[in-house]
Amino acid sequence: MRDKKLVAPSMLAADFGNLASDIDMVNQSDADWFHLDVMDGVFVPNISFGMAVIKAMAKHTSKPLDVHLMIVDPDRYIQTFADLGADVLTVHVEACTHLHRSLQSIKAAGMKAGVALNPHTPVSDLSHTIADIDLVCLMSVNPGFGGQSFIEATYQKVRELRALIDANDASTLIEIDGGVTDQNATQLIDAGADVLVAGSYVFSAADPSSTIASLSAQINS
Ligand code: DX5
Ligand code: ZN
Repeated sequence: MRDKKLVAPSMLAADFGNLASDIDMVNQSDADWFHLDVMDGVFVPNISFGMAVIKAMAKHTSKPLDVHLMIVDPDRYIQTFADLGADVLTVHVEACTHLHRSLQSIKAAGMKAGVALNPHTPVSDLSHTIADIDLVCLMSVNPGFGGQSFIEATYQKVRELRALIDANDASTLIEIDGGVTDQNATQLIDAGADVLVAGSYVFSAADPSSTIASLSAQINS
């Protein structure tokens, strides 16, 4: 049997006034991870939430925390996010001058090491580090905001990344972030994706929990 394909709701699209109840919904749902988007207003043109909010959220979460850092110089905060309880810590390749060192630091702090690629960044940027990466997050929108349209060129990138991972006998997971819905989920999995982040698709649904359940069922059928 193939490995389970994962659904990671992005809490960026949750109701920030009722975070505990949205977290509880995800806890009770078929979701696999919490995807937490940290934005600094410099690497991306938006500011989301930071340590204090994640600390408060982590008191309620009962599933792994997949933390996506959209910040410059992320090395400064690796230990901080480990202490907050991050299970996967993803940095952007465009923000890391010494990516190999950043990956080693994330793993030394006890977390899985993730690397995100902006839509314009080629998969080949990871050709010498892929064996050291636990997860590659392919941005399928320009990072900074939820609710944007999926970039169709992502499918080809997933196929290229899958080929790179297989050629290196690596076990790196492929995560897709941005504009994921039931309309592109199957095609993404068929191209080789393992983890789908979904923000507005889940939280703008009339029934977020059943939307998570049907997305999970769709990609595991
Ligand atoms: C975008 C964030 C995404 C975002 C996805 O910069 O990294 O995780 O929350 O939201 P949707 O699914 O609405 O595109
Ligand atoms: Zn994200």
